[in-house]
Amino acid sequence: MEKLKYTVITGASSGIGYETAKAFADRDKPLILVARRKKRLQQLKQAIRQKNPNLEVLIFPVDLTIKENVYQLFSDLTIYELETWINNAGIGMYGGLRTNDLQKTEHLLQLNIEAFAILSSLFVKDYFSKAGTQLINISSAGRYTIVPNAVLYCATKFFVSAFTGRDSRRIDCCWCQHASQVISSCCHQNRVRPDSSEHGYL
Ligand SMILES: NC(=O)c1ccc[n+]([C@@H]2O[C@H](COP(=O)([O-])OP(=O)(O)OC[C@H]3O[C@@H](n4cnc5c(N)ncnc54)[C@H](OP(=O)(O)O)[C@@H]3O)[C@@H](O)[C@H]2O)c1
Repeated sequence: MEKLKYTVITGASSGIGYETAKAFADRDKPLILVARRKKRLQQLKQAIRQKNPNLEVLIFPVDLTIKENVYQLFSDLTIYELETWINNAGIGMYGGLRTNDLQKTEHLLQLNIEAFAILSSLFVKDYFSKAGTQLINISSAGRYTIVPNAVLYCATKFFVSAFTGRDSRRIDCCWCQHASQVISSCCHQNRVRPDSSEHGYL
Protein backbone atom coordinates (compact mmCIF):
# COMPACT_ATOMS: atom_id res chain seq x y z
CA MET A 1 0.00 0.00 0.00
CA GLU A 2 1.25 3.48 -0.88
CA LYS A 3 2.39 5.58 2.08
CA LEU A 4 0.23 8.58 2.96
CA LYS A 5 1.75 11.90 1.95
CA TYR A 6 1.00 14.57 4.51
CA THR A 7 0.59 18.32 4.33
CA VAL A 8 1.97 20.09 7.39
CA ILE A 9 0.40 23.42 8.33
CA THR A 10 1.88 25.49 11.13
CA GLY A 11 -0.48 27.92 12.83
CA ALA A 12 -3.51 25.82 11.93
CA SER A 13 -5.61 26.66 14.98
CA SER A 14 -7.03 29.89 13.52
CA GLY A 15 -7.19 32.29 10.61
CA ILE A 16 -5.38 31.50 7.38
CA GLY A 17 -3.91 28.24 8.67
CA TYR A 18 -7.32 26.99 9.79
CA GLU A 19 -8.94 27.74 6.44
CA THR A 20 -5.94 26.34 4.55
CA ALA A 21 -6.32 23.08 6.48
CA LYS A 22 -9.97 22.85 5.43
CA ALA A 23 -9.06 23.61 1.80
CA PHE A 24 -6.39 20.88 1.73
CA ALA A 25 -8.81 18.48 3.45
CA ASP A 26 -11.31 19.17 0.66
CA ARG A 27 -8.58 17.93 -1.71
CA ASP A 28 -8.23 14.73 0.38
CA LYS A 29 -4.76 15.65 1.62
CA PRO A 30 -3.80 13.94 4.89
CA LEU A 31 -2.94 16.64 7.39
CA ILE A 32 -0.53 17.40 10.20
CA LEU A 33 -1.77 20.43 12.09
CA VAL A 34 0.53 22.44 14.35
CA ALA A 35 -0.21 25.25 16.83
CA ARG A 36 -0.20 25.77 20.59
CA ARG A 37 -3.95 25.51 21.27
CA LYS A 38 -4.69 21.81 21.40
CA LYS A 39 -8.43 22.30 21.84
CA ARG A 40 -8.69 24.42 18.69
CA LEU A 41 -6.73 21.83 16.74
CA GLN A 42 -9.01 19.08 18.06
CA GLN A 43 -12.09 21.08 17.03
CA LEU A 44 -10.64 21.57 13.56
CA LYS A 45 -9.83 17.89 13.28
CA GLN A 46 -13.40 17.07 14.29
CA ALA A 47 -14.86 19.50 11.75
CA ILE A 48 -12.70 18.04 8.97
CA ARG A 49 -13.51 14.45 9.93
CA GLN A 50 -17.24 15.19 9.94
CA LYS A 51 -16.97 16.10 6.27
CA ASN A 52 -14.27 13.60 5.34
CA PRO A 53 -14.41 10.72 7.88
CA ASN A 54 -11.57 8.70 6.36
CA LEU A 55 -9.04 11.49 6.13
CA GLU A 56 -5.97 11.14 8.35
CA VAL A 57 -5.57 14.25 10.53
CA LEU A 58 -2.82 14.42 13.14
CA ILE A 59 -2.42 17.24 15.60
CA PHE A 60 0.77 18.50 17.21
CA PRO A 61 0.28 21.13 19.93
CA VAL A 62 3.65 22.88 19.99
CA ASP A 63 4.97 26.29 20.98
CA LEU A 64 7.29 27.15 18.11
CA THR A 65 8.92 30.08 19.89
CA ILE A 66 10.97 27.48 21.76
CA LYS A 67 13.84 26.34 19.55
CA GLU A 68 14.05 22.83 21.07
CA ASN A 69 10.36 22.32 20.24
CA VAL A 70 11.00 23.26 16.64
CA TYR A 71 13.67 20.60 16.20
CA GLN A 72 11.65 18.08 18.20
CA LEU A 73 8.60 18.66 16.01
CA PHE A 74 10.53 17.98 12.83
CA SER A 75 12.17 14.95 14.37
CA ASP A 76 8.75 13.61 15.45
CA LEU A 77 7.54 14.00 11.88
CA THR A 78 10.34 12.00 10.28
CA ILE A 79 8.24 8.83 10.56
CA TYR A 80 5.72 10.35 8.13
CA GLU A 81 6.17 11.07 4.47
CA LEU A 82 5.55 14.74 3.74
CA GLU A 83 4.34 16.27 0.52
CA THR A 84 3.79 19.91 1.43
CA TRP A 85 5.10 22.06 4.26
CA ILE A 86 3.27 25.32 4.91
CA ASN A 87 5.00 27.82 7.19
CA ASN A 88 2.03 29.90 8.20
CA ALA A 89 2.42 30.41 11.97
CA GLY A 90 3.28 34.02 12.60
CA ILE A 91 2.46 36.87 14.91
CA GLY A 92 2.11 40.57 14.20
CA MET A 93 3.19 43.57 16.20
CA TYR A 94 2.54 47.27 16.06
CA GLY A 95 4.58 49.80 17.98
CA GLY A 96 7.96 51.46 18.11
CA LEU A 97 11.29 50.27 19.44
CA ARG A 98 11.00 52.55 22.48
CA THR A 99 7.64 51.16 23.51
CA ASN A 100 7.59 47.58 22.24
CA ASP A 101 7.40 44.87 24.84
CA LEU A 102 10.72 43.03 24.63
CA GLN A 103 9.25 39.63 25.35
CA LYS A 104 6.80 40.07 22.49
CA THR A 105 9.68 41.21 20.31
CA GLU A 106 11.56 38.02 21.16
CA HIS A 107 8.51 35.88 20.35
CA LEU A 108 8.07 37.68 17.03
CA LEU A 109 11.67 36.96 16.06
CA GLN A 110 11.58 33.40 17.37
CA LEU A 111 8.39 32.50 15.53
CA ASN A 112 8.42 34.62 12.35
CA ILE A 113 12.14 34.19 11.67
CA GLU A 114 13.87 31.49 13.70
CA ALA A 115 11.24 28.72 13.64
CA PHE A 116 10.37 29.61 10.06
CA ALA A 117 13.99 29.39 8.85
CA ILE A 118 14.77 26.21 10.79
CA LEU A 119 11.65 24.38 9.60
CA SER A 120 12.18 25.50 5.99
CA SER A 121 15.79 24.33 6.12
CA LEU A 122 14.98 20.96 7.68
CA PHE A 123 12.24 20.34 5.14
CA VAL A 124 14.43 21.27 2.18
CA LYS A 125 17.32 19.12 3.49
CA ASP A 126 15.09 16.03 3.63
CA TYR A 127 12.84 16.65 0.64
CA PHE A 128 15.09 18.44 -1.84
CA SER A 129 15.14 15.58 -4.30
CA LYS A 130 11.66 14.18 -3.74
CA ALA A 131 9.38 14.86 -6.68
CA GLY A 132 6.03 16.45 -5.97
CA THR A 133 7.03 18.09 -2.70
CA GLN A 134 6.61 21.77 -2.02
CA LEU A 135 7.38 24.38 0.58
CA ILE A 136 4.90 27.23 0.96
CA ASN A 137 5.84 30.22 3.08
CA ILE A 138 3.25 32.79 4.09
CA SER A 139 4.56 36.32 3.85
CA SER A 140 2.67 39.61 3.85
CA ALA A 141 2.11 42.86 2.03
CA GLY A 142 4.52 44.09 4.71
CA ARG A 143 7.30 42.48 2.73
CA TYR A 144 7.10 45.30 0.17
CA THR A 145 7.40 48.19 2.52
CA ILE A 146 8.46 49.20 5.98
CA VAL A 147 5.42 50.59 7.76
CA PRO A 148 6.59 53.08 10.39
CA ASN A 149 4.61 51.64 13.29
CA ALA A 150 5.21 48.01 12.33
CA VAL A 151 8.90 47.99 11.46
CA LEU A 152 9.78 44.76 13.22
CA TYR A 153 6.85 42.84 11.78
CA CYS A 154 7.62 44.09 8.26
CA ALA A 155 11.29 43.20 8.75
CA THR A 156 10.32 39.63 9.62
CA LYS A 157 8.24 39.40 6.43
CA PHE A 158 11.08 40.89 4.36
CA PHE A 159 13.09 38.03 5.81
CA VAL A 160 10.48 35.45 4.83
CA SER A 161 10.35 36.74 1.27
CA ALA A 162 14.11 37.18 0.86
CA PHE A 163 14.76 33.74 2.32
CA THR A 164 12.21 32.10 0.07
CA GLY A 165 13.27 33.73 -3.17
CA ARG A 166 13.32 36.86 -5.22
CA ASP A 167 10.09 36.53 -7.11
CA SER A 168 7.06 37.50 -5.12
CA ARG A 169 4.67 34.90 -6.41
CA ARG A 170 6.38 31.69 -7.35
CA ILE A 171 9.96 30.68 -7.64
CA ASP A 172 12.05 27.71 -8.50
CA CYS A 173 14.99 28.75 -6.47
CA CYS A 174 18.39 27.18 -6.35
CA TRP A 175 18.01 25.40 -3.03
CA CYS A 176 14.69 23.79 -3.73
CA GLN A 177 14.59 21.54 -6.72
CA HIS A 178 10.85 21.44 -7.10
CA ALA A 179 8.64 24.24 -6.05
CA SER A 180 8.90 26.84 -3.42
CA GLN A 181 6.35 29.54 -3.04
CA VAL A 182 6.07 32.70 -1.12
CA ILE A 183 2.55 33.86 -0.71
CA SER A 184 1.61 37.33 0.24
CA SER A 185 -1.60 36.74 2.06
CA CYS A 186 -3.12 40.09 1.38
CA CYS A 187 -2.82 43.02 -0.93
CA HIS A 188 -2.29 46.59 0.08
CA GLN A 189 -5.87 47.72 0.35
CA ASN A 190 -7.72 44.54 1.14
CA ARG A 191 -6.81 42.78 4.30
CA VAL A 192 -7.44 39.09 4.45
CA ARG A 193 -9.37 39.49 7.64
CA PRO A 194 -11.27 42.53 8.83
CA ASP A 195 -9.70 42.16 12.30
CA SER A 196 -6.17 41.75 10.95
CA SER A 197 -5.00 45.16 12.10
CA GLU A 198 -5.84 44.14 15.68
CA HIS A 199 -3.36 41.27 15.30
CA GLY A 200 -0.76 43.67 13.95
CA TYR A 201 -0.77 42.15 10.46
CA LEU A 202 -0.43 44.00 7.21
N1 LIG B 1 -4.46 38.17 8.57
C1 LIG B 1 -3.89 38.94 7.68
O1 LIG B 1 -4.47 39.88 7.13
C2 LIG B 1 -2.47 38.68 7.29
C3 LIG B 1 -1.86 39.55 6.42
C4 LIG B 1 -0.56 39.33 6.03
C5 LIG B 1 0.13 38.23 6.48
N2 LIG B 1 -0.45 37.39 7.37
C6 LIG B 1 0.34 36.24 7.81
O2 LIG B 1 -0.45 35.07 7.75
C7 LIG B 1 -0.08 34.17 8.78
C8 LIG B 1 -1.31 33.74 9.58
O3 LIG B 1 -1.98 34.89 10.03
P1 LIG B 1 -3.48 34.86 10.57
O4 LIG B 1 -4.09 36.14 10.23
O5 LIG B 1 -4.16 33.61 10.16
O6 LIG B 1 -3.19 34.86 12.14
P2 LIG B 1 -3.87 34.14 13.38
O7 LIG B 1 -5.31 33.87 13.16
O8 LIG B 1 -3.45 34.93 14.58
O9 LIG B 1 -3.13 32.73 13.37
C9 LIG B 1 -1.81 32.60 13.75
C10 LIG B 1 -1.55 31.12 13.95
O10 LIG B 1 -0.20 30.98 14.42
C11 LIG B 1 -0.22 30.18 15.58
N3 LIG B 1 0.83 30.56 16.51
C12 LIG B 1 1.00 31.77 17.12
N4 LIG B 1 2.03 31.71 17.98
C13 LIG B 1 2.51 30.44 17.90
C14 LIG B 1 3.55 29.75 18.56
N5 LIG B 1 4.29 30.35 19.50
N6 LIG B 1 3.77 28.45 18.27
C15 LIG B 1 2.99 27.82 17.35
N7 LIG B 1 2.00 28.40 16.68
C16 LIG B 1 1.75 29.70 16.97
C17 LIG B 1 -1.59 30.43 16.21
O11 LIG B 1 -1.99 29.32 16.99
P3 LIG B 1 -1.91 29.22 18.59
O12 LIG B 1 -2.24 30.56 19.15
O13 LIG B 1 -2.89 28.15 18.91
O14 LIG B 1 -0.50 28.79 18.87
C18 LIG B 1 -2.47 30.50 14.97
O15 LIG B 1 -2.85 29.22 14.58
C19 LIG B 1 0.98 34.91 9.62
O16 LIG B 1 2.26 34.47 9.23
C20 LIG B 1 0.78 36.37 9.26
O17 LIG B 1 1.95 37.11 9.37
C21 LIG B 1 -1.73 37.59 7.78
